[in-house]
Amino acid sequence: MMQIFSTEQEDIKAAAKIIADGGLLAFPTETVYGLGANACDSDALARLYAAKGRPRFNPLIVHAASIEALEAHVAFSEDAKTLADRFWPGPLTMVLPRLEDTRLSPLVSAGLPSAAVRIPASETARKLLSLLKDPVAAPSANRSGQLSPTMPAHVLSELHDKIHGLIEAGSCAIGVESTIISLTEETPVLLRAGGLARSALEEALGKEIASPHQNMDGVESNTEARPAPGLLQSHYAPRALVRLNAKAAQEGETLLGFGEVSGASLNLSLNGDLLEAASNLFAMLHELDALGVGAIAVSPIPENGLGEAINDRLRRAAAPRP
Ligand code: TXA
Ligand code: MG
Repeated sequence: MMQIFSTEQEDIKAAAKIIADGGLLAFPTETVYGLGANACDSDALARLYAAKGRPRFNPLIVHAASIEALEAHVAFSEDAKTLADRFWPGPLTMVLPRLEDTRLSPLVSAGLPSAAVRIPASETARKLLSLLKDPVAAPSANRSGQLSPTMPAHVLSELHDKIHGLIEAGSCAIGVESTIISLTEETPVLLRAGGLARSALEEALGKEIASPHQNMDGVESNTEARPAPGLLQSHYAPRALVRLNAKAAQEGETLLGFGEVSGASLNLSLNGDLLEAASNLFAMLHELDALGVGAIAVSPIPENGLGEAINDRLRRAAAPRP
């Protein structure tokens, strides 16, 4: 049976027990809802992959309440320390080398020598994480390939019969996933644009960040020889077809606007505010899907700041479906 929890301390305690006992718990972060399991428990992680229908070669982000809790598992370089000091807790994930004696299950890394780690800013998430002995692996709480959930109802509609609990905390403040940077090699690589702008990272590091190469299959690969995990091109897909950079809706399309455009059924941000647009993005795509819309045309969105993450998600939503 699935249990629903509030953000009261007693409820968070009971929810934490689900993870400690090897179960699957959906919980809020400032980016999107995550589906958490004990990152050191391979059986729990196997259940997590199964619940999401996620390919085993797509590794997971490991969440903790403090740097100290992560230092037992991954190696922090100088750059990593700089970014941690500056941006944690917050919407930043760093891919770092695994330590040899880490107790993290190899399943969180899908066989890679690295692990992705993050300290979320959400107060509820941090209360939950601080009650647990081990870090928590948490992908977004959706079925693999579907839109990320930014509200409890999104989680329930896809996963209610596959998870043991959900902490309900309303809408996520940021609304797009964390920015992922790999620091396993000389040059930092931006693996995923997200809730923290690339320019903020470059400014803090005092150097440019490389972008991953993309091969013909639409599978991005970073500088490591093997294709990086999980960044399949068609992802974040609503059921409706999606057309980008639309000046207006064509016949049969519904317009998702940005800024002062006319004829939009929904508008990501009337004032052209990218923060507001990011936090509305998945919720509005979910809403249009729920309305049974067949085709969505989206207004142009500038590429600066959070626009890089918004456009990345929209390009994936518009990509040919597998
Ligand atoms: O905002 C977020 O990051 C949310 C919340 C719940 O924290 N989580 C999230 O997880 O978006 P997920 O599983 O949907 O996306 C994780 C991404 C995947 O694209 C995966 O390939 C990448 O992180 N990743 C994880 N570990 C990696 C590693 N060792 N090397 C390269 N990429 C990694
Ligand atoms: Mg995801």
